[in-house]
Amino acid sequence: MEPDSGGRVNAAPADTGTADVRFEQVEKRFGEVLALRSLDLEVPRGSFFSLLGPSGCGKTTTLRLIAGFEQPSRGEVYIRGRRVTGVPAHKRNFGMVFQSLALFPHLSVAQNVAFGLKMRRVDAARIAPKVDAALDLVALGGFGRRYPNQLSGGQQQRVALARAIVFEPDVLLLDEPLSALDKLLREQMQVELRQLQRRLGTTTVFVTHDQEEALTMSDSIAVMSDGRIQQIGRPDDIYERPETEFVATFLGASNILPARVQRLEAGRAYVAFAGITAWVDRPARWRPRQGDDVKLALRPEKVRVDPEHGRIEGRVRQVVYRGAQTHLCLDAGGVAINAHLPNSNVLPFRLDPGATAWLDWNDDCMVPLP
Ligand SMILES: Nc1ncnc2c1ncn2[C@@H]1O[C@H](COP(=O)(O)OP(=O)(O)O)[C@@H](O)[C@H]1O
Ligand SMILES: [Mg+2]
Repeated sequence: MEPDSGGRVNAAPADTGTADVRFEQVEKRFGEVLALRSLDLEVPRGSFFSLLGPSGCGKTTTLRLIAGFEQPSRGEVYIRGRRVTGVPAHKRNFGMVFQSLALFPHLSVAQNVAFGLKMRRVDAARIAPKVDAALDLVALGGFGRRYPNQLSGGQQQRVALARAIVFEPDVLLLDEPLSALDKLLREQMQVELRQLQRRLGTTTVFVTHDQEEALTMSDSIAVMSDGRIQQIGRPDDIYERPETEFVATFLGASNILPARVQRLEAGRAYVAFAGITAWVDRPARWRPRQGDDVKLALRPEKVRVDPEHGRIEGRVRQVVYRGAQTHLCLDAGGVAINAHLPNSNVLPFRLDPGATAWLDWNDDCMVPLP
């Protein structure tokens, strides 16, 4: 994330008083399908909040509940402290961008952007300056007379964004708006979108299934699976301190090491696996007993490889050259361990399948999974 003058928008813990969107025990059923299971959620004012999870986990349903396109089967939704459960979409003040963009093909760019203002019966005289200002914000000043099919994919994206922000919504809802773009344009739009959001300060709920995109853009991420929130936190918290195996493996790669708890002390535990032992910190939610079998997550990029020194010896099973990194899979005491080595220098030794090498990492890189 690029630095900005105010530092992190959301460095302080969420305060209910400034939550722009709040879900209280929200459940959503579609017939037999339980799409959301008692969801609790708080989106702090002004923050960029991402819902991240695989297809079908309930992201769009969550967004549609904020918009009022759907109503909860149970629980309450609040926007800016006002209970809106049951309030229809047209009485909620949100801007929305869909993956399909849904631009009106027969309307010009300016007419597309003016649409929300007309719906809100804004004075005709005030519409043109607002449209111009919104188009300027997305760097499309002078494009008002064009039609959507005369624009590139990235420009269409910006029109959809201008249309969503022109009436100064309380909340901006974005449902995978970048996923149809190719990688380079997507990365560029990620930066633009985030800069625009910072400038406007509009509370934004962003849906994506792309881990890197969520990590890059968000103040907070809610990782979802199967209608539940697995973990909510800052990107670095979620990545460095995953609380479930799902989070550890869905966000980037993780080694999941099977271990046994040998001793417990306040705040830490002594664990053994594959013939080695280590002290690990005890996360609040992790309450094992002595002798329990547990799992530890270890990021592959935290693993160091050396020909002679380390904590455990491994035999190389697979080597994949990936440009910026080399990915190794090693067998260490019967446990498969993946190591992602930066290709910052030519390795001072050869690593081919069958070779042996020593693996090491810092103890605090091992994260117990409750
Ligand atoms: N209108 C609907 N009728 C029936 N099932 C639905 C409806 N909308 C969503 N679902 C189901 O709810 C679950 C969550 O869907 P959705 O929120 O669209 O997931 P995501 O956006 O994360 O891919 C899925 O199992 C989906 O099939
Ligand atoms: Mg969806």
